[in-house]
Amino acid sequence: MVFGACYYPEHWDRSEWAHHAKLMREAGFNTIRTGDFVWGLVEKEEGIFDFSYLDEAIGVLAQEGIKVVLCTPTAAPPKWLVNKYDVLQRDRYGRKENWGTRRECCANSEEYRIRSVKIAEEMAKHFAHNENVIAWQIDNEFGCHNSTHCYCENCRKAFSKWLEKKYGTIDSLNRTWGTVFWSLQYSSFADVILPVYNACEPENAHGWSHNPSLDMEYRRFASDSWVHFQKLQMNAIRKYTDKPVTHNFMGHFSDIDYYNLAEELDFVAWDNYPDNQWGESEYEYVSMAHEIMRGLKDRNYIVAEQQSGPCGWDTFGATPEPGQLRLWTHQAIAHGGEGILYFRFKTLPYGMEQYWYGVLDHDGLPRRRYYEIQKTGEELKKLEPYITGVKNNYDVLIVRSYDNIWAHQIKRHTKDFDYESLLYSYYKANVDLNIDTAVSMGKYTDYKVVYMPGYNIVHPEEMNKIEEFVKNGGTLVTTFRSGTRDAYNNLLTTTLPCAFASLAGIEVEEFTALRKGVHIEGIVNSEVKMWCDVIRPVTAKVLSIYSEGYFKNKAAITVNVYGKGRVYYIGCDLEEEALKRLVRHIGERCGIESMDTPEGVEIVRRDGCVIIMNHNDHKIQTGINGTSLISGQNFDGTLEAYGVEWIVAE
Ligand code: GLA
Ligand code: ZN
Repeated sequence: MVFGACYYPEHWDRSEWAHHAKLMREAGFNTIRTGDFVWGLVEKEEGIFDFSYLDEAIGVLAQEGIKVVLCTPTAAPPKWLVNKYDVLQRDRYGRKENWGTRRECCANSEEYRIRSVKIAEEMAKHFAHNENVIAWQIDNEFGCHNSTHCYCENCRKAFSKWLEKKYGTIDSLNRTWGTVFWSLQYSSFADVILPVYNACEPENAHGWSHNPSLDMEYRRFASDSWVHFQKLQMNAIRKYTDKPVTHNFMGHFSDIDYYNLAEELDFVAWDNYPDNQWGESEYEYVSMAHEIMRGLKDRNYIVAEQQSGPCGWDTFGATPEPGQLRLWTHQAIAHGGEGILYFRFKTLPYGMEQYWYGVLDHDGLPRRRYYEIQKTGEELKKLEPYITGVKNNYDVLIVRSYDNIWAHQIKRHTKDFDYESLLYSYYKANVDLNIDTAVSMGKYTDYKVVYMPGYNIVHPEEMNKIEEFVKNGGTLVTTFRSGTRDAYNNLLTTTLPCAFASLAGIEVEEFTALRKGVHIEGIVNSEVKMWCDVIRPVTAKVLSIYSEGYFKNKAAITVNVYGKGRVYYIGCDLEEEALKRLVRHIGERCGIESMDTPEGVEIVRRDGCVIIMNHNDHKIQTGINGTSLISGQNFDGTLEAYGVEWIVAE
């Protein structure tokens, strides 16, 4: 199992490398990740490559048994590149990005592509036979710093071509997009604009104020541009080596379609910072991020960057308390991580990330965080048979698709509606009941219950799969605004909830975006704050009704028997507790074992073991006991603050 840190030898004097390597070995590390951001160092002038510092550093590390994940350095362009070529992005106001940080280049700049492929190829050629290089990472965090969307001339031309390939004729595009509205017809593909700043934008705070089909297709195109950019480098690397290739993803990040980005990679890696300058994440949110990452390939992943100290760029987040680094590591492993690289080994005194602490502080002395990580590594070794290639016992799937995220961002229904928060609320309700919940899309038959909240962009092949799943006995849970849009982001013209109407056995007669809350009563009672679908059951049974408003006594939540399965339709938003009650009810109906534990306790089940995590800053009796797989002793259920235990499954 990969266990180590991100380590940048170029940041330190050569004389320190051996000492660093020794400290790493003593911490139990076996791997480092490096090379991201060294373009300016290894190609000081265009076409002149020198990897000697890396050769030497890899050699020094190897003496302590440490291997390397090598990254291509294309996330930060050297100055000569921007001096010589027009590679910088343009924003939606037409302003040119400036060089001086990172991620400022455009994926559709031919010059940037050519030089990126070249550096990737030269690196691959040079290190292909270095046995200490065990894997490759392409670039670093595609899309970070809002860099997915560029509005330059190269992008505009590439977008025209992309559209031509998809639509064939401009008439077909005009018809599909409804450009007749406001006289927006195009006479050729070369005519099509990018969704830049426009006259309507001041009224749309979110910046997506064009024809909804244009906005949607542009998002798909921008995402494809990075997938393609990655592929070019991947091909270059694979010409010389068959070592596995990855990229470091960003959990909940959603500007790039991560299923597409992951598709041709050998495995997924991702960067996990639960508490930094920009806030502290709820443990369920981190838990979901791990599941999003596992769900991309329905396969285990590694953490390419795991927080290991206080983190920020100009201010700090909190310093991880004793036990937290261990807990975050175990949480990653519990959701399908099978390798951990802490970011970074030693904290830098200079540069933007002076405040982004690593395992060692600026003085380089091992302290509490180092020793905690060392101990965690020892535990993980014992647990290895329960980690590598092992999958949790998932009963439930939350369907998360990028098309849906984008469609909801383009048209939000109501100002408080946030699709990703809706998905998260369903994930959280399940995880708070300790139901093992996957997040993915496409494969439904592996689960007992599939949740598709707010699933509004409908691809017919997807609907067929869902229907099959329900017919054969699966349970589907869907909500307001599901099934309402076609694949081009136009609204469907059948009766709401359109694509889900016959599955759910209902008609939505009308709806309202609420200005003031109303209540529902029945199987769950709740205040509704945002949205009401007024439902007329056709074949469905009513579970909850509105208790006020002009739609008093009308259905708010229904269930329908369809084939051998069931479809729940939730026509409104629910309070957290009410949602949890509903999720528990659905779980019980489907033979899913939920488990009540004290707040802040997370349980994960996999073959042979149960993992128990205490995310609280105080000691707790979890109510679960058994034989510890870590100590071999009896575990009586008590966990210290941030404690973790793995026990033998009964
Ligand atoms: C990201 C990047 C790293 C580093 C950290 C800290 O995860 O991948 O290079 O910048 O953030 O800011
Ligand atoms: Zn561009």
